[in-house]
Amino acid sequence: MKIVDASSAGIAEGARLLREGGLVAFPTETVYGLGGDATNGKAVARIFAAKGRPSFNPLIVHVAELDWIADLAQSDERFTALAKTFWPGPLTMILRRCASCKASELVSAGLDTIALRMPDHDVARSLLRAVDRPLAAPSANASGTISPTHAQHVADSLGDKVDLIIDGGPCRVGLESTVLDLSERHAAVLRPGAVTAEEIAAVIGTLAAAADNPAAPRSPGQLASHYAPSLPVRLNATAALPDEALLGFGYSPGATLNLSARGDVIEAAAKLFAMLRALDAPAKHKGIAVAPVPMAGIGLAINDRLRRAAAPKG
Ligand code: TXA
Ligand code: MG
Repeated sequence: MKIVDASSAGIAEGARLLREGGLVAFPTETVYGLGGDATNGKAVARIFAAKGRPSFNPLIVHVAELDWIADLAQSDERFTALAKTFWPGPLTMILRRCASCKASELVSAGLDTIALRMPDHDVARSLLRAVDRPLAAPSANASGTISPTHAQHVADSLGDKVDLIIDGGPCRVGLESTVLDLSERHAAVLRPGAVTAEEIAAVIGTLAAAADNPAAPRSPGQLASHYAPSLPVRLNATAALPDEALLGFGYSPGATLNLSARGDVIEAAAKLFAMLRALDAPAKHKGIAVAPVPMAGIGLAINDRLRRAAAPKG
């Protein structure tokens, strides 16, 4: 494994490795992705192996241009309107695969649908254009652990399982993209993110009730326990118990770290995963207490990730 700067030489090296079937971690505005050529079944299989990801959990396919979609999926008016509004950006849309879909069936993990996203990050899009193929890219972390928002997190989590890491600095948004299912007549948000359900509904009308039934997840990756640190996480805490670290928000006296002292949910989203990683230190404390974060805007997505971090590990 090697870390390179996001220079044109670094991007060219990444593109060459990807065209040869290698795995390259790259920055996006949400989190770092573990990229592989989506049209190469062997490369996609290597992604599942590197992450230890269950084979039933499908991957997001990343594109640089809207016209790449024609070779991948059947789009519709809702998709076109949403892409026009939110792409490039932190919105993943699930469509039905088209008959001539160029992506390996492995990315869909046996489903007849495909998740698509155009990242809003210069390095990611330069890399995609240089490879000139869609890239399958889950978050670049071992399955079940916290997503990486810094290049070093990728190195810590995946080590030599990735051929190259392109370091583009910290990720601006800090939480994984919103996942919206458009494969059914009723659109539904499967994973909350920076693009909110309200913003989506303003473009395509009312969404189906959140498919948040853990017994029958439409998104195989949305298991109750996910994004989990190794220490137990206690939510809506106002103070730390002895032996606990306190992750604050807003005015939080005694906080070990604070997601946003000024109470800004966007700042908190960008810092959440790095701070959870920093506090996940069993040698220093026995648990992580987290102050309440308001359920507004991206605060919904923060609370979704915190609930999963706190869920009993299955
Ligand atoms: O922000 C992001 O989305 C990042 C960056 C790298 O783009 N990627 C990411 O990928 O978070 P991953 O694999 O960690 O999460 C993808 C989520 C999973 O919950 C997966 O189950 C769901 O999307 N998903 C992918 N394809 C799907 C499909 N065809 N149907 C339903 N859910 C799907
Ligand atoms: Mg992930």
